[in-house]
Amino acid sequence: MKIQPFATEQYYARYEFSTPHLLSVSDCETISIGELLQMANVSLEKMGQVRLGYTESQGNPVLREAVANTYDKVSAEQVIILTSPVEGIYLTLQAMLEPEDEVIVLVPAYDALINVAEHVSRHVQRWEIVPTATGWQLDLDKLAALVNPKTKLIVVNFPHNPTGYLPTRSQFDTIIELARKEGVWLFCDEMYRGLEHGGRPQLPSAADSYERSIVLSGLSKTHGLPGLRAGWLVIPDEEVRQAIINWKHYTTICPAAPTEFLALAALDIGEELAQRSQTLIRQNLQLAETFFAQWQDFFNWRPPIAGSVALVGIDVTSATSYCHHLAQAAGVLLLPATFMGSDDQHVRFGFGRRSFPSALSHYDTYLKQAMAMMG
Ligand SMILES: Cc1ncc(COP(=O)(O)O)c(C=O)c1O
Repeated sequence: MKIQPFATEQYYARYEFSTPHLLSVSDCETISIGELLQMANVSLEKMGQVRLGYTESQGNPVLREAVANTYDKVSAEQVIILTSPVEGIYLTLQAMLEPEDEVIVLVPAYDALINVAEHVSRHVQRWEIVPTATGWQLDLDKLAALVNPKTKLIVVNFPHNPTGYLPTRSQFDTIIELARKEGVWLFCDEMYRGLEHGGRPQLPSAADSYERSIVLSGLSKTHGLPGLRAGWLVIPDEEVRQAIINWKHYTTICPAAPTEFLALAALDIGEELAQRSQTLIRQNLQLAETFFAQWQDFFNWRPPIAGSVALVGIDVTSATSYCHHLAQAAGVLLLPATFMGSDDQHVRFGFGRRSFPSALSHYDTYLKQAMAMMG
């Protein structure tokens, strides 16, 4: 079975490095290697001593220990260090699924979560997140109806890209109860964990909550280090872990040594990096509130409660055509949400970058000119 185009990444490959005003990216403001080393109090000389041989396939034990320490009940042996977070999606879905297995995927979703599932399984059920007047909601009755004895895996992502939704603790517990009742595995993408800015408390990790969980995380979003390509899976179950490690030998064999070194330094100051991203998101969201209040006839704003992005309704016939036009005519980059399984009247905004205020102001000026021209 052929795989669908990875529309979001194709779009960013085309526009991200040539469009000046980025308003939709999901990563948070980054730092340099020098800044990271300085913040973590690690010398450049030590970095220079990193040897560039093959590394341990499952990941450096010291780094795995540091990752495990960010959870409550996880041990180093349950952690697999990846060569990028997105690799973890491919490995997990390949290792877990056979063509006849049923999978439930929360949608909209980061393309890989849907597309790789559909590439491997013939029975992917889409569990849609539901818009409300002021935000988003999970339809747990729908999930209960979808789960059945043939369901192998439920795929979720909390905090959620692209809506910025975060379930309550009781909703999260219900998902786990539903999975446990039928012995279903839960793949929980927690790439945006640590960015709970809307008042709702952080959820426990699925890795600390469910024996049949597979958790994906990494340093790209919350920590603002996407160029490091540092990610990991946490898998309490030994058999599943070994199956995934086997798949990993076919993709990247082992993590990059410089990345492992820097990831260890980053985890040492993980809290500081996450706070930095949260502060920036909060500031940018204040500007966004004013912007959307001003343009409420054009946008349908549902404020995010966690993560770095929001899914925003837009009054155009095709958000996809609009976004391409906007990038080319105004140098402003929004993301059409159809790429992630939404309808063509939604776009994604991202709030993690320091350039957000100037990009938003540029877009505001463009909108005023465009509206004036329309009379
Ligand atoms: C929900 C989700 N999972 C995984 C990834 C992959 O992360 P990375 O690009 O750092 O590999 C992304 C990236 O946008 C994402 O949004």
